[in-house]
Amino acid sequence: MKKNILIVPGDGIGQEVTEVGKKVLIKIAEKFGHEFIYDEALMGHVAIEATGNPLPDETLEKMRASDAILFGAVGHPKYDNDPTAKVRPEQGLLKMRKELGLYANLRPIKLFDELLGASSIKPEILKGSDILFFRELTGDIYFGEKGRKNNGDTAYDIAEYSRYEVERIARRAFEAARTRSKKLCSVDKANVLETSRLWREVVQALAPEYPDITVEHQFVDSAAMMLIKDPRRFDVVVTANLFGDILTDEASQIAGSMGMLASASVGDSTGVYEPIHGSGHDITGMGVANPMASVLSAALLLDISFGLKEESDAIISAIEQVLKAGFRTRDIADSTTAPEMILGTDAIGEEILKRI
Ligand SMILES: NC(=O)c1ccc[n+]([C@@H]2O[C@H](COP(=O)([O-])OP(=O)(O)OC[C@H]3O[C@@H](n4cnc5c(N)ncnc54)[C@H](O)[C@@H]3O)[C@@H](O)[C@H]2O)c1
Repeated sequence: MKKNILIVPGDGIGQEVTEVGKKVLIKIAEKFGHEFIYDEALMGHVAIEATGNPLPDETLEKMRASDAILFGAVGHPKYDNDPTAKVRPEQGLLKMRKELGLYANLRPIKLFDELLGASSIKPEILKGSDILFFRELTGDIYFGEKGRKNNGDTAYDIAEYSRYEVERIARRAFEAARTRSKKLCSVDKANVLETSRLWREVVQALAPEYPDITVEHQFVDSAAMMLIKDPRRFDVVVTANLFGDILTDEASQIAGSMGMLASASVGDSTGVYEPIHGSGHDITGMGVANPMASVLSAALLLDISFGLKEESDAIISAIEQVLKAGFRTRDIADSTTAPEMILGTDAIGEEILKRI
């Protein structure tokens, strides 16, 4: 298979982990006889420094021209501590989602058995957890009208959803449920919010088209509680932008570390694959960032954008073997890990490459 992959490392540890993700893609192409052609582009703080724009037109053009994008993370302490900054790295993220029509964010929450001890939740509650979240990405309170009134003393953010926006993500979730345990949980707040009542109405209207799928509706407050109490009761979950933002970060703790979780943003055109973590200011340049989220993002890219399931599984299996062999990065090590088994970003990357 011949494909063009755009690498957008972004800022901080985004650059460190994406390098490992790219090496893994190169290895897979070698091993399975594919031809992947790579290009690279700037985004985030590095792009602001170079061009004044967090998502330069040149980057956007390259994104549109590629078959898939492996993305790192954006962010720099300079902006976090200055809420008045007019140009900010995360503006690049929102613009990318809008311009590429990326309306569905998929986050698989998969717990590797070897990391049962790394989570703050009890192993007997966690064992076997495997959840696939679909978070809507282009609507809701983030994109509605916002402003201030009463001399700035009152603020508002309007949440809006249209039927087609709910329908297109719900369909993706129903279809994914078909390939898994045929259970779909739709999370809303239909007892209070009108947007949630529309959400539930649309999901209910679609359900007869998927008679093999069992659909459950849950209020977001109860879902947040159940995720910690009994994560195994969830399989495919579909929810709105704001609820999904919060629930997926909560669910990341099931996997033990932010450094282990990948995500895919898909929609009308090129898909973007990225770790769920940010640019990790506190560990940038130390060579200790866990690259597995980026490597798992590369696996998702192969599976979802190129349909290369065997290649994707080969990556996941290599990570499993590295963990079984006892190797850890600092974030997933515990008191039982021998110091010589704690590896840096590049060294653990080499262990993964060896096992592909
Ligand atoms: N999608 C994105 O680009 C994205 C997402 C979240 C945050 N951010 C940005 O990232 C910057 C830092 O934000 P933050 O500190 O809140 O979140 P973060 O995800 O960067 O870091 C949170 C904590 O997790 C640790 N961590 C994260 N990834 C790790 C990895 N791969 N290996 C080991 N440890 C890891 C960090 O060291 C830190 O202690 C901010 O500027 C923020 O705006 C960007």
